[in-house]
Amino acid sequence: MAALLKLALRNEIEAAQVAAAWMSDTSELDAKLALARQCGDEAKHYRWIEERLGALGADLTGFDPLAGGLSPLSRYLLSLHGTVERAAAGQFTREALAVVRNEVFAGFCDTRGDAETAALYRDRIQPDERHHHELGRRLLARYANTESDQAAASVAAAHTLEIAEEIQELVRLRGLTRAPGC
Ligand SMILES: [Fe+2]
Ligand SMILES: [Fe+2]
Repeated sequence: MAALLKLALRNEIEAAQVAAAWMSDTSELDAKLALARQCGDEAKHYRWIEERLGALGADLTGFDPLAGGLSPLSRYLLSLHGTVERAAAGQFTREALAVVRNEVFAGFCDTRGDAETAALYRDRIQPDERHHHELGRRLLARYANTESDQAAASVAAAHTLEIAEEIQELVRLRGLTRAPGC
């Protein structure tokens, strides 16, 4: 459980960092504010998960959630420019994955008898992750107007899924099959 929640800390801080980087060079006001909110939400999730780890007796002294640098997924996301590609990859797709992974993780917590961690995910974190995914959907509906925008959005979403699948495979190899998202 502690290993999975530490992985969750990493995902949350990376999601916050990507949202912050994107916010600074986004010109559409609605997208900029959406990224600001997302950054704050992911930071809040980080603190909640950290609290839960403390309650479970985990020692986070010296723990660096970003040790080893950003994941390939975050590096790919940071390479994207423009609200359409970013919303397609980062919000619409990555957050949809997060919602599904968190639900699977909450189910795993149930089977381990850890109702509190399950409730943290279901009642507090998941509503935000769903909101991030919906923001992606709304931004795409508003800004992906041309055929070339829509094609770029599809490519970015598909590439995000590919990278996420590769990362998930590596995580599986480490025996952490039910890792939560961001
Ligand atoms: Fe998120
Ligand atoms: Fe999150």
